[in-house]
Amino acid sequence: MTESRPATTTDSGAPVESDEHSLTVGPAGPVLLQDAYLIEQMAQFNRERIPERQPHAKGSGAFGRFEVTHDVSRYTRAALFQPGARTDLVARFSTVAGERGSPDTWRDPRGFAVKFYTSEGNYDMVGNNTPVFFVKDPMKFQHFIRSQKRRADSNLRDHDMQWDFWTLSPESAHQVTWLMGDRGVPRTWRHMNGYTSHTYMWINAAGERFWVKYHFKTDQGVEFLTQAEADRMAGVDTDCHVRDLFEHIRDGDFPSWTLHVQVMPYEDAAGYRFNPFDLTKVWPHGDYPLIPVGRMTLDRNPTDNHAQIEQAAFQPNNFVPGIGPSPDRMLLARLFSYADAHRARIGTNYQQLPVNAPVVDVHTYSKDGAMAYRTSSDPVYAPNSKGGPAADTEHHGNPPSWSVEGEITRAAYVAHPEDDDWGQAGTLVREVLDDAARDRLVDNVVGHLLDGVSEPVLERAFTYWTHIDPGIGRRVADGVRAGRAA
Ligand code: NDP
Ligand code: HEM
Repeated sequence: MTESRPATTTDSGAPVESDEHSLTVGPAGPVLLQDAYLIEQMAQFNRERIPERQPHAKGSGAFGRFEVTHDVSRYTRAALFQPGARTDLVARFSTVAGERGSPDTWRDPRGFAVKFYTSEGNYDMVGNNTPVFFVKDPMKFQHFIRSQKRRADSNLRDHDMQWDFWTLSPESAHQVTWLMGDRGVPRTWRHMNGYTSHTYMWINAAGERFWVKYHFKTDQGVEFLTQAEADRMAGVDTDCHVRDLFEHIRDGDFPSWTLHVQVMPYEDAAGYRFNPFDLTKVWPHGDYPLIPVGRMTLDRNPTDNHAQIEQAAFQPNNFVPGIGPSPDRMLLARLFSYADAHRARIGTNYQQLPVNAPVVDVHTYSKDGAMAYRTSSDPVYAPNSKGGPAADTEHHGNPPSWSVEGEITRAAYVAHPEDDDWGQAGTLVREVLDDAARDRLVDNVVGHLLDGVSEPVLERAFTYWTHIDPGIGRRVADGVRAGRAA
């Protein structure tokens, strides 16, 4: 044993006798039950895995910092967005539908989750690399995810199932158009943007409210893989995006993103041409231009991916003073869903793990539970006259709010003048994509539909694309018919 190399110990810290040999009765005899070290090795191994995330199982991440470069204090009083602030963070990128070992280059939105360790507690921004989403009511989210995962009988993914759901859910058109275009497979995580997608509320020091959307624009430039390149990479290097991020940070080439926000005055929401809380819509830049805020840089790799990334628990309900939710009903459902998932996936005291713990002191009345690490102290109840924590209602007594009225119902959003399922998807196809990008879009859709989609779903898919854009609809139908005839 060299001096620089520590002696192996058991989990309780005692030196072990051998890394290689079990305790046996003579060299040819049976293994003994009293070999507690062997049993510890086997038992821990059997318990190494925790459930993977239901969606977004495949991913990785890194640590870094956020630095404010522009003064947005007239919109929010959140400490992390004040001039000069610098906040440590952990970020995780992911695909949505694939399991933990699935290829990084499957066509899918990418998760873009950031936990800011702010001076006012943790603030989590759990977004995607796309500004919109497939559905706008949380009732449909679970069904949507199941349609993207695996069939019950064959355990196979199934394009027929995907298009069945999409064509029966026309609100998906904008996100599906985006997905089938170039941004559906980023070259690397460094080469994609991140968006809150949802609208949030910002509140300034005077109590004025604003609606806000975040855009993290990559400083590396947006780059994509063609379907052929993505298919090849899925075989050559399943983990190419994990590898790319890790190796660039290891080599000191730190990726960064510039955060911009779109800010809508509180009063504009009711009369805006699109429902500003509809997750299938963007706010056109011409209506609400991007305002720069600061820069996120990733500069430190995890040293234990399980402890620091797999056990990282992002939750959209982690707000700080000056930031709150909006009436987006998808967002409101997410405020419940994530913490519930973490309790199931990691355990009730997941927020005590180092990667999830805030950098500020915690003064909570939550106590006990499996694997409690933080110690509780008396008094264990409130109100009390024994010196326990007391809520600072004077400064924090007004939750972010908006006014609502109406009977309890199950209904679609009230439509705004230009709300429809096809319009913004058509704008993307006609006004943002160039000819070459439109050609790749058609090729991607045709290839996807030729891979297992049958009637009546196929005919509905042609109609779906015709609603988005008649020319694209025609080309998709022609391409699929030609492909089936070949
Ligand atoms: P703009 O011309 O101001 O913005 C178009 C935006 O589209 C670009 O800024 C870029 O977003 C994004 N974009 C560029 N290429 C692609 C692509 N291949 N796939 C997806 N997005 C791409 O127009 P509008 O703001 O009026 O929006 C027009 C359409 O652009 C929308 O209907 C929407 O589909 C799409 N879009 C709009 C965004 C928004 O927040 N307004 C954001 C992203 C897309 P970025 O600068 O974020 O890279
Ligand atoms: C992960 C639920 C919509 C982004 C998850 C997880 C759940 C979930 C349960 C797994 C959490 C875990 O085990 O750690 C939901 C529900 C939604 C919804 C119920 C809608 C009602 C969205 C939307 C976005 C999004 C709209 C993006 C704007 C993410 C990301 C992750 C994730 C990035 C992975 C976070 C990480 O890296 O750990 N979602 N989701 N989700 N979701 Fe959602």
